Amino acid sequence: MMRQRVLCLSGSLRRISTNTAVLQAAQQLAPDTLELELYTGLGRLPLFCPDDDVEPLPATVQALRSAVGRSDALLIACPEYAHGVPGAFKNLLDWLVGSLEFPGRPVALLNTSGRGSFHAQVALREILRTMSAQLLESACMTVPLSGAGCEVGAILDNPARCAELRGVLAALATELSSG
Ligand SMILES: Cc1cc2nc3c(=O)[nH]c(=O)nc-3n(C[C@H](O)[C@H](O)[C@H](O)COP(=O)(O)O)c2cc1C
Repeated sequence: MMRQRVLCLSGSLRRISTNTAVLQAAQQLAPDTLELELYTGLGRLPLFCPDDDVEPLPATVQALRSAVGRSDALLIACPEYAHGVPGAFKNLLDWLVGSLEFPGRPVALLNTSGRGSFHAQVALREILRTMSAQLLESACMTVPLSGAGCEVGAILDNPARCAELRGVLAALATELSSG
């Protein structure tokens, strides 16, 4: 069976992060047709500067681009900071703007804020569209979780949250198998 590779990107650097936890839960709940890999290099990326966006790239940037290039889709869970996308995550996206690997890549968004995290989600969509991502609307979902940082076990212990995540992963699998 052909498995589709999904690279999971958390926009949070916190040790106990709701956004990282929801992606770790998704890894546990994924159907057999999807292989979810969690990217863990966010905090090691240098600050983006166009002068440095040349060969040879910093090793951490090359690793990010290779991981994106190996994936069939990206699954992003990103918090809202001051009504915007956190700087660390925007920095990651900036490193992908000039890459060959990112344009056209299918992307699904998980929004863990029960209050909507409206501004950051709108901004993130605009950024991703500008970067020529292919937004998979049927696989984008709000999974309302406590904003105070939660562990993966708390999500996996919640049947309603697990059902929502299984639903979004099934939609992602359908999108990828039809695309
Ligand atoms: C500096 C900072 C600014 C924040 N600004 C907002 C905001 O504008 N709107 C919002 O809904 N939450 C805001 N939050 C709350 C975070 O989005 C929320 O705690 C989120 O769950 C953090 O994700 P994480 O657990 O994955 O780190 C802010 C948190 C911090 C630390």
